[in-house]
Amino acid sequence: MQRRSIEVVEDAEALARAAAERLVACATRASERVGICLTGGSSPQRLYQLLGTAPYRERLPWERIHWFMGDDRFVPLADDRSNMGIAMRAFLDASAPRENIHPIDVGAGTPDAAAQRYQDMLERSYGASRLDAARPLFDLVLMGLGPDGHTASLFPGDAALAETTRWAVGVEEAKLAPFVPRVTLTIPTLASTREMLFLVTDGDKRDVLTRVLNGADLPAARVRADGDLVWLLTRAAAPEQRDAS
Ligand code: 6PG
Repeated sequence: MQRRSIEVVEDAEALARAAAERLVACATRASERVGICLTGGSSPQRLYQLLGTAPYRERLPWERIHWFMGDDRFVPLADDRSNMGIAMRAFLDASAPRENIHPIDVGAGTPDAAAQRYQDMLERSYGASRLDAARPLFDLVLMGLGPDGHTASLFPGDAALAETTRWAVGVEEAKLAPFVPRVTLTIPTLASTREMLFLVTDGDKRDVLTRVLNGADLPAARVRADGDLVWLLTRAAAPEQRDAS
């Protein structure tokens, strides 16, 4: 059963450190294999730098952690728009065993074919083709919030939002830059996590964030988690607090 909480910190640096602490806690709580699903965008970039440096780097059980991506742009890993490519260059290449890094393989021809390949890989890694809420696929899923209320590559009005069977789908048309096709995990797949952690740093997101937190019909409000759903916000991004008086 989902529990939602909101944590507000002073600024982007504090947010990255709070996210790093949460990630370390998730990774060290699990005693065996750990699954962490990363996100793209600018908001996690400082977190990724921190994970590659002391003291966080030394605190992570790298051999046990498997790294996935919630959505990616349909470009090769070497392209500077590749979400997994960015994460690899920021911290994974230096610390994670290569076999523990699971990029979406864009060599598959089409975004839908790549999505199917990613689903096949996730099913093998999970050991079943049906997700069980009592045994989540991931320990932690990171998420960002787009200015239009999108999250992962789930854009407002897109058919991917209604997908209940497939674990990942191709998105031919991105509604925001970079305008390249995407592959995204679907809502039930992203939900299969012990913790979903949204990172929102940017003050320009305050209005859309207020709508999302009030339950507007936007993708970031439709995603859910089998475990905890945590919104980690900077003071600039957090909705105005009304006085209780
Ligand atoms: C991507 C993302 C996307 C991102 C949001 C927020 O591939 O771009 O996964 O969903 O998280 O657009 O991006 P910012 O952190 O840059 O605001």
